[in-house]
Amino acid sequence: MDLLQTRVTGVDFRNPILLASGIWGESGISLTRAYEGGAGGVVTKSIGSEPRSGYPNPTIEKNGTWGLLNAMGLPNPGIESYGEEVRYALSRGVRVVGSVFGGTAEEFARLSQAMEALGVAAIELNLSCPHAKGYGSEIGSDPEALAEVVRAVKSAVRLPVWAKLTPNTADPASLGRAAERAGADAISAINTLRGMAIDPVTMRPILSHVSGGLSGPAIKPIGLAFVWQVFEAVHIPIIGIGGISRPEDVFEYLLAGASLVEVGTAVMEGGGPLFGQLARGVSDILVTHGLKSVSESVGAAHRR
Ligand code: FUM
Repeated sequence: MDLLQTRVTGVDFRNPILLASGIWGESGISLTRAYEGGAGGVVTKSIGSEPRSGYPNPTIEKNGTWGLLNAMGLPNPGIESYGEEVRYALSRGVRVVGSVFGGTAEEFARLSQAMEALGVAAIELNLSCPHAKGYGSEIGSDPEALAEVVRAVKSAVRLPVWAKLTPNTADPASLGRAAERAGADAISAINTLRGMAIDPVTMRPILSHVSGGLSGPAIKPIGLAFVWQVFEAVHIPIIGIGGISRPEDVFEYLLAGASLVEVGTAVMEGGGPLFGQLARGVSDILVTHGLKSVSESVGAAHRR
């Protein structure tokens, strides 16, 4: 057996490195490109009930020092039209995880049922977008509200449910425990951190929404600490996200307690081939350490 193959929440992945939601997720072609480049699976863009155009430009600001700020405003074509993108990717053998966002537990449940009907392998709940009124972290930073969503989705679908948590919280462990108690099969962490940039020439905020979500290398230590803390608080698997661009980053997340990882911002530069490079690099690292599987490395730093 290939030492990168892994089974998480009952789903088989050929390697533990997935495309993160939000990057390349809007079309079946780009999802397929990530998979053909070597991703172990792909997570769709977060999809809502109705088409949504998102915020006006500028919606992103990239900076070599700290990474990427985005406030897209959850643009998406709506679940009905998005079906053809998922079907395209599935017809090419891509392992697809469907990401959804809603404003209420019932809306999350309806969207998850629609995703399930499309044939995805698992559902990821976006409980963590840091800049969309009535959505994301406005729901997911309250353990009660988060649990209500997870419970509603769990009783509506048979698929594994992954709750994607916000780092904009003082207490990651409480959010993790609330998700686990409500029946989540896994925790995805982290989404972006709320931040902003101001243009010193115009003297105005750069993003039209003023604040946005920070991603990229600057947030890796925060993602690692979050995964570490949640690993010690729950018994369900964790999907590590935040600032991954090198095989060593993937390995650090595995050691901190992640069973899978997702890569987003780095794909903008590395493209599909980045996934193959990361997978080969992680395989080499496992061999170097005498580890025979990904699962042997999961949480290993806690045991040393
Ligand atoms: O603005 C956005 O669409 C970002 C979504 C997210 O961070 O989950």
